[in-house]
Amino acid sequence: MLNFQNNINLAPYTTFGVQAKAKLFVEVDSEASFLELLETPERKNNQHLFLGTGANILFTKDFDGLIVKINIKGKDIIEKTDTSVIIDVGAGEDWNEFVRWTIDQKWAGIENMVAIPSSVWAAAFWNIGAYGMEAKDRIISVHGINTATKEAITLSNIECLFGYRESIFKQQLKDNFLITKVRFGLHVYSDQYTLNTNYRDVQQWIADSWSKITLKTIAKAIAEIRSHKLPDRKVLGTAGSFFKNPMISKEKFALLKTNFVHLMSFDVADEPGYIKLSAGQLIEIAGFKGYKKGNAGVYNKHALILVNYWWATGREIVDLAGEIQSKVQETFSVSLSPEVIYV
Ligand code: EPU
Repeated sequence: MLNFQNNINLAPYTTFGVQAKAKLFVEVDSEASFLELLETPERKNNQHLFLGTGANILFTKDFDGLIVKINIKGKDIIEKTDTSVIIDVGAGEDWNEFVRWTIDQKWAGIENMVAIPSSVWAAAFWNIGAYGMEAKDRIISVHGINTATKEAITLSNIECLFGYRESIFKQQLKDNFLITKVRFGLHVYSDQYTLNTNYRDVQQWIADSWSKITLKTIAKAIAEIRSHKLPDRKVLGTAGSFFKNPMISKEKFALLKTNFVHLMSFDVADEPGYIKLSAGQLIEIAGFKGYKKGNAGVYNKHALILVNYWWATGREIVDLAGEIQSKVQETFSVSLSPEVIYV
């Protein structure tokens, strides 16, 4: 049964928590309810926008259309052997709860992506990633409904055109395809499984804690590392990393290094001529760490995180982002592109 609501305040539905209203709002909890929605005048006469946890979106004004909140739940084990497991997960499941559940089952493969604020829908839509893992590494396929043809379709991993915080769902299929479930392939955890402890922060945690590194302890380590770097979303509104880490050529990096000797770089898989810079470091060198502009600001423990201190509007946050982009461009001739989508 679809329950349309009018003139809804969207602040509680996004992690930034900025004030904005939606003309219409509805939750879908199954493929059937989404197919029903497609036949309604509310949907036919309005633009629509899909919303998961609202962790990577910034409303800059009221939304004159229909917000479709994805609330499709369920976890089905499709196949299990002694070494592997295949699971279908509803797009509306909470990502972190799903990751923690897999760890409790002693299944490995997504443990480094613990504590990311996201839904399973957004995990595929954005190809979320952290600490050397990306959702695409474990996604077998993505199932959903084409809004124009109303067909149910399954896209293989390759067909999803995953990239760094990119997918076909964010580009060619934007607004035209509702992801309803995602199929993941995980490993049954054993001593043979190699945990990814490559990140310096993770290695430091291991050295400091004297813990034996297991599936559970690595998730604990990463959750702790994240909690020290990222604000508590119950206290400060934020969308996590605001910008993507920019990719530049190795030649350009060599030139930049002559002026900025401490500039960090990270290798990019499949792009031998390029490196990724740390956007957080660029923003810090440009002088913005801890900077406040009205009610918006740059978090004082991590410069890639923009925060809503108190009642910031979406516009204020966009203006702050623009100021940062200009200064970074001026200082390094590097352009920062937002990871967060402006609406
Ligand atoms: N750094 C600074 N100053 C800062 C912040 C960071 O110099 O103010 C330096 C750090 O010292 C570090 C480097 O920048 O050496 C990278 O920082 P960090 O490890 O925190 O990772 P990140 O590149 O800023 C990315 C993802 C995060 C993910 C982490 C860990 C993007 C845009 N962000 O951040 O993902 O959790 O790596 O893997 O790729 C997200 O997308 O919302 C997100 C949180």
